[in-house]
Amino acid sequence: MEKKFKRTLVTTALPYANGPVHIGHLAGVYVPADIYTRYLRLKGEDVIMIGGSDEHGVPITIKAKAEGVTPQDIVDRYHNIIKKSFEEFGISFDIYSRTTSAIHTKMASDFFRKLYDKGEFIEKTSMQYYDEEANQFLADRYITGTCPHCGNEHAYGDQCEACGTSLNATDLINPKSAITGNKPVLRETKHWYLPLDKWEPFLRHWILDEHKEWKPNVYGQCKSWLDMGLQPRAVSRDLDWGVPVPVEGAEGKVLYVWFDAPIGYISNTKELLPDKWELYWKDPETKMVHFIGKDNIVFHCIVFPAMLKAEGSYILPDNVPANEFLNLEGDKISTSRNWAVWLHEYLEDFPGKQDVLRYVLTANAPETKDNDFTWKDFQARNNNELVAILGNFVNRALVLTHKYFEGKVPEAGELTDYDRETLKEFADVKASVENYLDHYRFRDALKEAMNLARIGNKYLADTEPWKLAKTDMPRVATILNLALQITANLAIAFEPFLPFSAEKLRGMLHMHHCDWNMLGRTDILPAGAELGKPELLFEKIDDSVIEAQVNKLLETKKANELKNHKAAPVRENVPFDDFAKLDIRVGKVLECQKVPKADKLLQFRIDDGLGGRTIVSGIAKHYKPEELVGKNVCFVANLEPRKLKGIESQGMILSAEDADGRLIVITPAADEIAPGSEVK
Ligand code: 2FM
Ligand code: ZN
Repeated sequence: MEKKFKRTLVTTALPYANGPVHIGHLAGVYVPADIYTRYLRLKGEDVIMIGGSDEHGVPITIKAKAEGVTPQDIVDRYHNIIKKSFEEFGISFDIYSRTTSAIHTKMASDFFRKLYDKGEFIEKTSMQYYDEEANQFLADRYITGTCPHCGNEHAYGDQCEACGTSLNATDLINPKSAITGNKPVLRETKHWYLPLDKWEPFLRHWILDEHKEWKPNVYGQCKSWLDMGLQPRAVSRDLDWGVPVPVEGAEGKVLYVWFDAPIGYISNTKELLPDKWELYWKDPETKMVHFIGKDNIVFHCIVFPAMLKAEGSYILPDNVPANEFLNLEGDKISTSRNWAVWLHEYLEDFPGKQDVLRYVLTANAPETKDNDFTWKDFQARNNNELVAILGNFVNRALVLTHKYFEGKVPEAGELTDYDRETLKEFADVKASVENYLDHYRFRDALKEAMNLARIGNKYLADTEPWKLAKTDMPRVATILNLALQITANLAIAFEPFLPFSAEKLRGMLHMHHCDWNMLGRTDILPAGAELGKPELLFEKIDDSVIEAQVNKLLETKKANELKNHKAAPVRENVPFDDFAKLDIRVGKVLECQKVPKADKLLQFRIDDGLGGRTIVSGIAKHYKPEELVGKNVCFVANLEPRKLKGIESQGMILSAEDADGRLIVITPAADEIAPGSEVK
């Protein structure tokens, strides 16, 4: 038997305020959390949804340094951008606050202090890198050096991004401070550790025995952490950005960002409900659910519960429905590589289409494994599902009612067997959507809701009321009444998933009340009720729009490849005289054609200022024949002629090629230098 709770506390991972949010954030955390919360609200349950920005941590200080501004400037900028994006996408937080708030600073500080006073920490000194010129300890991210595994010279103290190995700063060969470039020295420093090993037996039992219902990806990750054995974890850092460690002698030390961030859930609840917050955090009749991405599992299932347990007065989460990752067109989403669809940019390109993205991200949510977002799939789901099924059905039901019944809900007469069959089919939808939502299976829930529209579409297609209008108006009335009731059901069922469209639909139906418990009923719209003007809920997205998005990504890819390009090592020196022997000239391409039966070769006719010559060049993979005609190129004029596919080539055209094999022909501007000029 599943436990009955009095209220639900939904928390959503606090995104770092060091960049805007993208589709991966939305798909992994905020859309599912929002669907769940809206669903419970519609059922009239007591639920609150907590969010906020995670504004501490080293990456924020690094970004601030790079831009020459303060960390506070950085978090102010991104907190506002992120908050606005969430609002625009209808993520219905009861509060969206931030971890630099005064309430949070006090809450986190008091929390630490309570654990400290209870003797829940161990103090340890260790050796850590220190920059003597900057006068500060260096966080792992602030140290770069050579990776001991792959030789990458730009590895960070916590990870080598070239080979993916996670590192300790002391592993790096030739460590350098990212602040001054100096070689750091090792110095002793004291930190506070949460002894996770002490909580291991408790956590094992709580998760592995009592929460077997957690999603397999979450349960599995917890099990493997627990099976490896837990170690004490440092909860403080030597850094000047964060919540100060509230202990004497801890100057220059702050709480580790992963210690203070989850406490942000508590602080933000307190900010929302100053008098009632404890009910949501301390009463065992509260069901707490953490919505997060898979990289946060260990913190929410192991570290934070250990903190709460150590504190002693808090409840633990009932579930942690973590999602896997969403990739973009086959590649991992990455802020630093700008490989993402940013929410604010999406809205510039697709104004008013929030629900389309919400739909696609839910239909393709990375619930059980990593999934891929592609623009083709986005287009297909919009055109073939939202437009062709949901939008089409709703529109037909409304337009026909306007055509035959002056926009008033017609009275239903006697039902046929087919009507009854249709009703039976759709009566099951409520139970099944609920069952999926209760178990955090949002993709399946959405599919079921969509089925309702499919049933409606099929019903109209099969009964063809437009054909009966000449002969049997009472039958048309019954059909349209039923179709409109299905439409009203859709307006309820889709509210958690597509809140903007559901609202628009309710407006068209003049439905002022929306309550989950009405779902499944066939008397939602009373006969005689006046309906509003039908408007399209969704519109087709053209190929050209999708191509523009794909091209934008291709541009990003190209720019990244150029940025990451590594130069080949320089070859052995040659005497000057050897170089002087080469006669390099400028020539103008007069003609160019493919060499038959040779997929790499192009044959050029070049104006060399001396009567012209033929050159065969192996660049057909990189250029179409017409692309270079009329342009100047450089060529070696005194290379011994040689035959290629039976054609005598009188020289060699110069080009540049990078390590990835990208090639461009060197083309001095044709209006600046005459054919025959010497290149020296
Ligand atoms: O991974 C992240 O983006 C973290 N900022 C999530 C923090 S969740 C919570 F603990 F606040
Ligand atoms: Zn490496």
